Amino acid sequence: MVIIPYQDKKPTIADDAYISPRASVIGAATIGARSSVWEYAVIRADYNTISIGTDSSIQDNCTVHCDLRFPTKIGNSVTLGHNSVAHGCTIEDNVLVGIGAVILNNVQIGHHSIIGAGSVITPGKIIPPESLVIGVPGKVVRSLTPADIKELDANWKVYVELSQRYLKQLREDRK
Ligand SMILES: CC(C)(COP(=O)(O)OP(=O)(O)OC[C@H]1O[C@@H](n2cnc3c(N)ncnc32)[C@H](O)[C@@H]1OP(=O)(O)O)[C@@H](O)C(=O)NCCC(=O)NCCS
Repeated sequence: MVIIPYQDKKPTIADDAYISPRASVIGAATIGARSSVWEYAVIRADYNTISIGTDSSIQDNCTVHCDLRFPTKIGNSVTLGHNSVAHGCTIEDNVLVGIGAVILNNVQIGHHSIIGAGSVITPGKIIPPESLVIGVPGKVVRSLTPADIKELDANWKVYVELSQRYLKQLREDRK
């Protein structure tokens, strides 16, 4: 895997986090227990810090960067769908960011929310907890139902399970 220090900052990665050998994690990044970073995702913590909590997945081709003024904070049990971008923003626990969505500087996404595929959340926007957001620019269209929240939980759990299988395989291959 490509774990690269930047100046005097080296990524801190939990022992049981899965980082694909083809992902890049650079600089002042922290990745918590059972989280995963998939094929060709880039986490570049040079201008500022990036923290990713536990049980979160950063899926294939995602870009996670920060801004000089804004660190990026991704909570626990968050899914960043394929090709999505998180830039200088805060994403609270149990959020699903749909495929190809873009989250810009100083955005705060409240816990247990879904950001629809392809949405763009414009700078400084505050999304209340339990929101469904879609569109360009992203707008809250409704609150999540209990069924949506159940599905959110299923989503991150599947990726924790999958990533632990990949991690086991990676360790066996390296023996
Ligand atoms: C937003 C989403 C959750 C669907 O929510 P929903 O409440 O079931 O929405 P529906 O499919 O009933 O569609 C409701 C309306 O929103 C529109 N819509 C749905 N998803 C949309 C999206 N991503 N962007 C823009 N509009 C969207 C539909 O066209 C429909 O419009 P209409 O009322 O004018 O016909 C889903 O489309 C989505 O984007 N999920 C993300 C999935 C994903 O990327 N997962 C990551 C896997 S790794």
